[in-house]
Amino acid sequence: MKRLGDLEPKAKVILAREQAAYERSNPKSKEAFERSCRVLPGGVSRTLCYFPPFPCQTAAGEGCWMTDLDGNRRLDLFNCATTLILGHRPAIVMKAVEEQLARGTAFQTNSGLETVLAEMLVERVASVEQIRFTNSGSEGTQMAIRAARAFTGRPKIAKMEGGYHGSHDCVEISVRVPAGGGGPTEAPLPVAGSAGITQRVLDDVIIIPYNNLGVAGGILAAHAADLACVIDEPILGSVGFVPAERAFLVGLREEAKRLGIVFILDEVQSFRLDRGGAQQLFGIAPDLTCFGKIIGGGFPVGAFGGRRDIMALFNTATGGGLIPHAGTFNANPVTMTAGIATM
Ligand SMILES: Cc1ncc(COP(=O)(O)O)c(C=O)c1O
Repeated sequence: MKRLGDLEPKAKVILAREQAAYERSNPKSKEAFERSCRVLPGGVSRTLCYFPPFPCQTAAGEGCWMTDLDGNRRLDLFNCATTLILGHRPAIVMKAVEEQLARGTAFQTNSGLETVLAEMLVERVASVEQIRFTNSGSEGTQMAIRAARAFTGRPKIAKMEGGYHGSHDCVEISVRVPAGGGGPTEAPLPVAGSAGITQRVLDDVIIIPYNNLGVAGGILAAHAADLACVIDEPILGSVGFVPAERAFLVGLREEAKRLGIVFILDEVQSFRLDRGGAQQLFGIAPDLTCFGKIIGGGFPVGAFGGRRDIMALFNTATGGGLIPHAGTFNANPVTMTAGIATM
């Protein structure tokens, strides 16, 4: 059997040939990238948009195809990180959005559209009694975590090693852990995924090994007095789409309930798996659920929702709400329209 090392020189030759062909067929994207590098660090505004030697620039999308600046037509397997469940520019969404554009793009008041999309999601997801919209999945997980902290009066959160929940401080931890750098399996260490995350933030994050219920239960129990929530994805997207074992999810849910820890299921990506999300597929009912991506029909979106007694913390009508929830473009009518058409 050949070892990987034996193949390396050949692989390098193939890669160099492919790279040269890519550069030859993308001169406009190259020029555009060089221009963008002058004003955007690394030439992009989103880490994942960069790939070497330079990313192609998309001029248009249609269905499952994208066309770049140089006119190359590409099969879009990335799908804006699983967001475009109906593909690029689906007619039903485009028509609804065009009609909404003629009526307005951003209002200081409700438009009624947020109620319609909220009703659709509440009807689909049995565990969600009430919901609030945000502009990104990251904001959704941030608000859900804050709600859990406020509800329990406890400071710490537990998350999976390899779990991704967005770009804010307390979740950008132990997402892609360097081999051997995550501590022992029985007690994984929180590893900062970015410069600028302080030790104080790390001290408030407890790491759990995925699909290891024995260890996970022990860790939750040991930290229960301080734990506000455990947040989990039904499928770990960022480390290669690793599905949860049902027994793990169900057991974690039960253990959280027993210990009075809020169980947050991050369905930002997995909601597309079933009409009622992955929680319907797995048969579990989290306390709070986070949404994003497909529910905005291709426009910026996020949401969090769940038990009425927890969501009551946001009830502006009773004494101002214990948790303020601002966001200039929350539930803007364009996103809501696209979300309704997509759902
Ligand atoms: C599971 C999960 N949670 C949260 C997020 C963050 O969402 P956003 O990129 O909209 O902030 C993502 C984004 O990929 C995600 O996959």
